[in-house]
Order: sequence, then structure tokens, then C-alpha cells
Amino acid sequence: MTTDIDKHIGELEQFIKDTRKEDYSNSYLIAVLHKAQELYGYLPEKVLDVIAEKMGIPTARIWGVATFYHYFNLRPIGKFVISVCMGTACYVKGADEVLTAIMEHLGLKAGQTTKDKLFTLNEARCLGACGLAPVIMINDKIYGKLDRKSTVELLETIKKTGKLQ
Ligand code: FES
Repeated sequence: MTTDIDKHIGELEQFIKDTRKEDYSNSYLIAVLHKAQELYGYLPEKVLDVIAEKMGIPTARIWGVATFYHYFNLRPIGKFVISVCMGTACYVKGADEVLTAIMEHLGLKAGQTTKDKLFTLNEARCLGACGLAPVIMINDKIYGKLDRKSTVELLETIKKTGKLQ
């Protein structure tokens, strides 16, 4: 039976094979992890085991690298990743209300992804747009001056259109 992991494993193994031809091939670990995340959308545990075996690097070291860099995801993420700023400026302007509205509307807690893989919810520290507080970021787009109502409307529009507004 073909699993989701098998789907891209050939391409990943070829990528690793190509890096083995280079000097200091173990220094290509970050590039290999990027390739794996590009193929799978995140870094499944079994894929990390394959990388460890093929690169001859202990799995513990690979986990260390994958968890150190925030851009690597160890769990599947949604098409739209929502980061709710809980920094001071946003907090005093009602970030917790915005976070609650999202949690209630999507039935999620921070760190979780909706079953339809559309949204992942995260909490963040200052997103550098304090003048627009309270602020959320969805993928790489900032939305500011939100309240419960406008947050829910934004989510509904994204759901309906399938794209960021
Ligand atoms: S505190 Fe939220 S953007 Fe700065």
C-alpha cells in the first residue's frame, strides 16, 4: 500500500543523493529539511528517520535542528496560518478578544489545525505593526484594527473565496 510518505520519498532521496556528491555533505541538512517540507508541507517523523538514515546523521541531531528553526513544522499545517499577536500593544487593544473569536469560530486552540486543513492557529509576539493593534498575520499578510466582528467576517470571506483578502 502506498502511503503519503512514499509519494515523495523518491524525490527526497534523489535530492539527498545529489548533496552527497558535495564536500561537507552533512552541512546540507537544512537544505534537505527545506526540500522535505516543500514536498510534504511539514516534516513527518518517518521522513526525518529516512533523512537520518540516508545522511548518516543521528535522528536526535536532526530533531534538534528541525525544532530550533521556527520555519520548520513538525505537524501538518493549514493553507492559511494565522498568527495572533499577543504582544503588549495588541494585548491592551483586545488581542485576547480576537484570539477568542478565532478559537470559537474555527473550533481550534492555538497550535492546532482545522480538520479541513484550511487554517492553523498560532500565538505570536510583536509582529512589528503595533500602530495597527490588535494585529493578526495570515501567511505573510497583516490585518489590523480588528475586533470580534471584523475578525469573523475576515475568516468567513477567506473561507468563501479560498484566498487572502
Ligand atoms: S504588539 Fe502586536 S504588533 Fe506589536
